[in-house]
Amino acid sequence: MNFDKPIDRRGTHSSKWDMMEKLFGVSPEDGLAMWTADSDYQTAPCVIEAARQAVERGVFGYTWEHPEYLNAVQWWMRARHGWEIDTDWVLTTQGLGNAVALSLHVWSEPGDHVVIFTPVYHEFAVKIGKTGRRVRECPLARDGDRYILDLDDAQSRLDGSETLLIFCSPQNPSGRVWTAEELRAVADFAERNDLTLVVDEIHHDLVYSGTTFVPFDLVCPEARPRTALLTAASKTFNIAGQRTGNMILPDPEMRNAMRKKLLSLDYKPGTLALEMITAAYSPDGADWADAQMVHLEGNRQILDAAINAIPGVKSMPLQSTYLAWIDFEGTGMEANEIAARIRDDARIAVSPGPAFGTGGELFQRINFATQRSNVEEAARRLTAAFADLQ
Ligand SMILES: Cc1ncc(COP(=O)(O)O)c(C=O)c1O
Repeated sequence: MNFDKPIDRRGTHSSKWDMMEKLFGVSPEDGLAMWTADSDYQTAPCVIEAARQAVERGVFGYTWEHPEYLNAVQWWMRARHGWEIDTDWVLTTQGLGNAVALSLHVWSEPGDHVVIFTPVYHEFAVKIGKTGRRVRECPLARDGDRYILDLDDAQSRLDGSETLLIFCSPQNPSGRVWTAEELRAVADFAERNDLTLVVDEIHHDLVYSGTTFVPFDLVCPEARPRTALLTAASKTFNIAGQRTGNMILPDPEMRNAMRKKLLSLDYKPGTLALEMITAAYSPDGADWADAQMVHLEGNRQILDAAINAIPGVKSMPLQSTYLAWIDFEGTGMEANEIAARIRDDARIAVSPGPAFGTGGELFQRINFATQRSNVEEAARRLTAAFADLQ
């Protein structure tokens, strides 16, 4: 488990590295790719071994969500999150972006409003728009250096045309891990407004010590008839390119509706993906995931120390995720200038805060799941790019 093993991803068809010049104008020759949420780590040895064995067999015929796969998912939720699921509840999708889009198609109609609490993972709004639904933004409130829900304010923004709520738990981009009380309040809000609830828990394994992730279903079982739970091994094990996630639907009616949609699209899971996830969701995978968090914690401290030393700049203390959410408001600079300094002076490709919706205007999101030397280099470059503020 060497998370500092140098890995040059340039020229490997990695979106993160090989698309960054086109998307951000930062050359991979001397730039650092710290935007989209995949890590630069080689995945767990048990996952590589499962893929290696499959490749050596060399036969890649059709597969299905077989019992070994479903049992591994069940084991992981129980062992890692204290959450008891029935294997019958699990459907697979082509990743969780796909699961969100499918949910919009199945549980809302064109023209409906869909509630999101912003700033939040920018693709929620993109998918709402692309499926012909409309975004109902409800901004998160600030309580010191963390976000909290303001459900009274959210309630005042609704006009009855909302049918669905997409909730991110843990929260991307702020890393907030919601408490049981907060999750129950979201369930009540959904019930009061008769909203289907899509709870995206993709980052649930990336939680730092001292904080415990609370699975939504564990504390809000009464919300099952309106809730879809989304989980995946993709972020945890850096296998997002295998395009496979789980939609966990305890309610039979919801499950039937989604299964019908998946059948109509002729969706089937990929052979390698299921082998890899089955191997990942194991005691060996769990040890690797724990070790990864220790490395991420070290990276986070280095990056945060450099960022917080820049006058007017503040990195939000993270409870989870490898995505630093950085507030530049105190610099007095415009969003364009902040972005230009990071792109042109520091030569780092990051995710621009404004894309995350209201509240993200003066933020930037930096992915620090990479080798330590890259994080140290990013810290040096950011310090230099804003040196005039000292
Ligand atoms: C909250 C959240 N949901 C979904 C996704 C997309 O997941 P996938 O790659 O499985 O489509 C991401 C990726 O960053 C994410 O952060």
